[in-house]
Amino acid sequence: MLKGKNVLLGVTGGIAAYKSVELASRLRKAGASVHVIMTRGAQNFVTPLTFREITGNPVTTTMWGEVTNHNVEHIALANLADLVIVAPATANFIVKCAMGMADDMLTTTLLATKAPIFFAPAMNSNMYDNQLTQRNLDVLIENGWNFIPPESGHLACGVEGVGRMPEPADIVDFVRFTMAFAADMLGIKVLVTAAGTHEPIDPVRYIGNRSSGKMGYAIAEAAKKRGAEVILVSGPSALTPPEGVEFISVESAEEMREAVLERFSEADLIIKAAAVADYHVRDVADQKIKKNEDEITLVLKKNPDILKELGEKKRGGQILVGFAAETQNLLENAKAKLEKKNLDMIVANDVSRKDAGFNTDTNVVKLLYKNGTMEELPIMTKHKLADELLTKILHMKN
Ligand code: C5P
Repeated sequence: MLKGKNVLLGVTGGIAAYKSVELASRLRKAGASVHVIMTRGAQNFVTPLTFREITGNPVTTTMWGEVTNHNVEHIALANLADLVIVAPATANFIVKCAMGMADDMLTTTLLATKAPIFFAPAMNSNMYDNQLTQRNLDVLIENGWNFIPPESGHLACGVEGVGRMPEPADIVDFVRFTMAFAADMLGIKVLVTAAGTHEPIDPVRYIGNRSSGKMGYAIAEAAKKRGAEVILVSGPSALTPPEGVEFISVESAEEMREAVLERFSEADLIIKAAAVADYHVRDVADQKIKKNEDEITLVLKKNPDILKELGEKKRGGQILVGFAAETQNLLENAKAKLEKKNLDMIVANDVSRKDAGFNTDTNVVKLLYKNGTMEELPIMTKHKLADELLTKILHMKN
């Protein structure tokens, strides 16, 4: 993934600059051509000569020097770069970029480049925690910069806290992972359903289930990050909808059905991670039910099976993925649903496990495909699983 790429490595004046030498070396070993720009501060920690030797390329240290080597005029590196990594990124550098300043070669180049930018803040933990720094970080993140979170531990200034630059190998992994997934879902429209539904009993009560929405929200977020256009239809959930997705909030299964049917035809991929109630209360009380009786009876009526309806309406090219939460006979039940609902894939999870299913951060699933094959995935976080699922679905599509 880094092979043959022009990577611009910006080094600013923090003690972690010494680690950037190893970062440059790892990037070069991964096949990238590494071009370093150092700020004046950085040169107090490491010499340009070190980076020149490690990268085999000239190192840029000033905007004003004689142009002797390759095309280093003004914004040449901004255009040349396929990818930019600034590590370490000091508080001073971060605020300058957040304000759009261009007062040295690095800030000027970053303002001019269209390449993806990664930055790894590294500083004293009080400086890092300061609201001013946090606000500046937010500005850069909102501007599309990829934030590589600092680690906590022993800092050079003698304190323990957050602010340490991650190890170079971890930075390379972070960049690889992000770049590998970036934009492989461009042009794909995804409809995701998430969380449980609430079936009203009276104006203040409902029947619900334990679904938190974590799995569906993670899928919506992952698809969005990979460039998809995402519609998230969600039952009640405590989670914040991911940035940039179209969010439709519903309460009951019937409301979810209406929202999903309205948007179904425009979606290329439909992932139904919602735990839709199978029954609703037939006669919803207009007023709050009083506790006058020792016993009351609620009659429950079957809800429409949204997924089954979608399976019947599915057009060529559309992919339909369902979830099967079971406490017993997982595979047989999942297989039956896959067929009955005309799905392309079903994600089967055994919700009797403690580390899987409702309201956990991890999940353990088996994937069943339309062609009869089955794949078992190891335990992983719902975020990781969301990415794995999308990758599997994209492969299925091609
Ligand atoms: O049949 P069962 O409810 O176990 O199937 C689960 C799958 O069907 C999930 O993907 C769920 O979102 C979907 N479903 C639905 N409408 C229902 C019940 C379930 O779309 N009424």
